[in-house]
Amino acid sequence: MKRFYENPKCTSMNRLKPRSYYIPGGKAVYTLLNGMWDFAYFENGDTAGEPEKWDSIPVPSCWQLYGYDNPNYTNINYPFPCDPPFVPDINPAGVYQREFMVDDVSKQTYIVFEGVCSCAEIYINGKLIGFTQGAHLQAEFDITPYVNKGKNTIRVKVYKWSCSSYLEDQDMFRFNGIFRDVYLLSRPKGHITDIDLTTDGDTINIKTDRKAEVSLYDGNILLETKTVNKTGSFTVKKPKLWNAEQPELYTLKFSCAGEEITQKVGFRKIGISDKLELLINGVPVKLKGVNHHDTTPHGGWCMTNEEIYKDLTLMKELNINTVRTSHYPPSPAFLDYCDELGLYVILENDIEIHGITRQNPNVSNGWADIQPNWPADNPLWTKEMTERMKRTVERDKNHASIIMWSTGNESGYGPNYDKMIEWTRQRDQTRLIHCEDASRQGVSDRADIYSRMYLSFGELESAAKNPEITQPVMLCEYSHAMGNGPGDVWDYWELFHKYPKLIGGCIWEWTDHTVIDGGVAKYGGDFKGELTHDSNFCCDGLTFADRSFKAGTYEARAAYAPFRFEINGGKIRFRNLYDFTDMTGFEIRCKVSCDGETVEEKTVELDTKPHKTSVIPLENPLPTVCRLGAAVSVTLLKNGSEIAALEQPLKCRIIPDEEKPLCGLTEDEFHIYAEGERFKYSFSKQYGNFDSIIIDGREQLTEAVRLSAFRANTDNERGGRIALWMFINIWQGENLDREFTKTYDTRVINGIIKVTGSAAGVSRRPYVKYGMTVKILNDGTAKFDFDGKIADNSPTLPRIGFNFTLPLKNNTFKYFGYGPYESYCDMMHHAELGFHESDTDKAYVPYIFPQEHGNHTGVKELTVGDMVFRCEKGMDINVSKYSAHQMYRAKHTDELGEPFATHVRIDYKCKGIGSASCGPTLSSQYCLKDKHILFAFSFSIK
Ligand code: GAL
Ligand code: MG
Repeated sequence: MKRFYENPKCTSMNRLKPRSYYIPGGKAVYTLLNGMWDFAYFENGDTAGEPEKWDSIPVPSCWQLYGYDNPNYTNINYPFPCDPPFVPDINPAGVYQREFMVDDVSKQTYIVFEGVCSCAEIYINGKLIGFTQGAHLQAEFDITPYVNKGKNTIRVKVYKWSCSSYLEDQDMFRFNGIFRDVYLLSRPKGHITDIDLTTDGDTINIKTDRKAEVSLYDGNILLETKTVNKTGSFTVKKPKLWNAEQPELYTLKFSCAGEEITQKVGFRKIGISDKLELLINGVPVKLKGVNHHDTTPHGGWCMTNEEIYKDLTLMKELNINTVRTSHYPPSPAFLDYCDELGLYVILENDIEIHGITRQNPNVSNGWADIQPNWPADNPLWTKEMTERMKRTVERDKNHASIIMWSTGNESGYGPNYDKMIEWTRQRDQTRLIHCEDASRQGVSDRADIYSRMYLSFGELESAAKNPEITQPVMLCEYSHAMGNGPGDVWDYWELFHKYPKLIGGCIWEWTDHTVIDGGVAKYGGDFKGELTHDSNFCCDGLTFADRSFKAGTYEARAAYAPFRFEINGGKIRFRNLYDFTDMTGFEIRCKVSCDGETVEEKTVELDTKPHKTSVIPLENPLPTVCRLGAAVSVTLLKNGSEIAALEQPLKCRIIPDEEKPLCGLTEDEFHIYAEGERFKYSFSKQYGNFDSIIIDGREQLTEAVRLSAFRANTDNERGGRIALWMFINIWQGENLDREFTKTYDTRVINGIIKVTGSAAGVSRRPYVKYGMTVKILNDGTAKFDFDGKIADNSPTLPRIGFNFTLPLKNNTFKYFGYGPYESYCDMMHHAELGFHESDTDKAYVPYIFPQEHGNHTGVKELTVGDMVFRCEKGMDINVSKYSAHQMYRAKHTDELGEPFATHVRIDYKCKGIGSASCGPTLSSQYCLKDKHILFAFSFSIK
């Protein structure tokens, strides 16, 4: 038995040389073969004979989403033994079949597959005419000799695995099938095959394989027509240049053999400055990027053009200017849209060989441990790897949006990478080459960029300062957006803006990968037959799978805002961070607010040039005293819609509330009582806190108030970059999920309640010991003064504060603090300081893996139920319909259980978010490191 799909030296049969992408018009006929095809699935593809019966399946699609086989999500581990180039004995296959018509056999007939996984045998009228591998790479066949006039049959046998599977180990669901468009082209003999366009200054250089009439248009205006005999050029006086902010395109129309082929062309020049800045048309540009995988919950890898377009327009809305097509070329429409909408593209080859790092069970991150002769080093794979690079570059070389080629992802650097880089360099001198693997292995100079992933702030800053790094520094991945987050984008941008050499980076990643099953979003491990999986590590998008936004999305939008501002002597210094766009036509709305009231608001129009600053004077002096807080915000708008809003708090003296006299207390063995006109309180000596708060006859509590440090984990707290597949619960050390409070003593001294106590997890010594006074005033206000000492060897706590458990019906709340979306001490640049109203339904965020969320930081006042909580210094609060334990236990949104109370957290502090699910550990300034905790807060009657 010969299994040719296991031969890396022969990964195609009759596949045509790659060429630039276009759909010819004029006398050419384009027939899309998308639609329902006959389909038969065989567990054992090798022995598959004639199907006994045909089912049907849509093309394009992934067969796992149509009831054949099951989805399997694996990140690094191969879903089969790692024994390249061999795949399992039993290799399933899907057989597709349909009819098609050929009207004119005097013309050339081609069939084009834009994406098939893993490999395909193509039969026309029963005869094997072609074979291809390379899932995300275009494959074209000349089928002229095999077709008849009239009806013809095509059969495509798609194997689940091939030797290519070793090169396609991207972190994603492993799907199969014909997942992108399939079409026929009927073309006149003597047609053009390839077109190669480059621009140089004001000139467009053309190379093609035939003589053609070529017309250049600016929009609909014909600028010039000429005959190009294989090579030629056009010169445009003062051409409009292409960049991501002003994506100016010209159109070229090629007429040859009765066909018309249209190509868009953009004038743009890419370079590197002396300061190691990235230059686009001579201007230093920062890449505000994101990584994009093709994924939707219903279609898997299969995205419609509308879905792609929507992704890209949403990116523009979020001030994103760069997209890395991780980790393979996208479908052609993606790049047309990037040209048109204005997005810089880092176009990645379809290669990832990550699974080879998992061969030594003692090494969790085995880059240094890769054995010689694995694909990146092995001559057996040279042809296939370089061919993939060629197919990538040749198809997409005419796109203005592509500024960088990427050799692939996480493959272990080796001689085959050198070959890919060498080939690309000689083929295209107009763009940069990116190879993270080379930078990782310390041979960055093979490519043009020092590209790394997930560096910490410190590591990034060292790279900026390191004179031995003589290339622009880019983070091809950073700010891992898994679950609640990312929380660290802003701080990365402080660095990117500070150092010219840091050219920006791409957030990992655009959207969550999930498959919806029974209305619930599912991930790795949820499907039958997953022999290895990586749980919810695929749910790491900046947007939810339905492309809705979360707080982390808004945080990225703020960090990517095209401006910054400072307040200086009663004036706003506004800095335009666009690279090519001046402020003409924008509105800049400046607002000064104090205690939630607008004290000054003005909208100005400026003509601030790109990278320049303007001063906006304010009419009134800035507030210096307040009750809750004051801030200045600047909102940038275009045609009435908001591009970004940023804010800075003002330092003000706080006017304290006038203090009322103490309320008289009574007590018995277990309780202390306070009663006034509208209230009746009971304070438990046993719990050291209130166990009943009755206001206007309504009970506010469903259980006694408890000191607590527990909250559910975020995804960023489940692992850490090394142990990420182990999903360790980091609170386990303190057993905070099984927490006890202890009251040593509760007594009344001089009309004030004094408590001493502690809190601890089961089996652990107390993580905190405290003394606390509670003053109850005659208007019903209760003032807490908590003085706690955190145990010396305690790990940093996720939070510390009090849990007030309220009846479920008390589900609306209003706060003065950072909102309206959830905010944490690091993830709050998206938020506005002021009064916000919400309820527990709005506060719930459907993270695919339920987790901690819904915090608000910098809160001075919270009204919930009949109580108003206040904290002069600012506290963290959280009002949720789910308890921390409900959130902690559930692994999917349908496992949360029924809400039974409104859970209110009144916290001294709550730790930040970061992006440690794959990124660096949370920066220490956002950890709750304080060892001595002084927390003064109060509640009073609404
Ligand atoms: C990177 C990798 C991505 C993805 C990410 C974690 O190392 O390049 O493909 O796996 O980690 O989400
Ligand atoms: Mg990987």
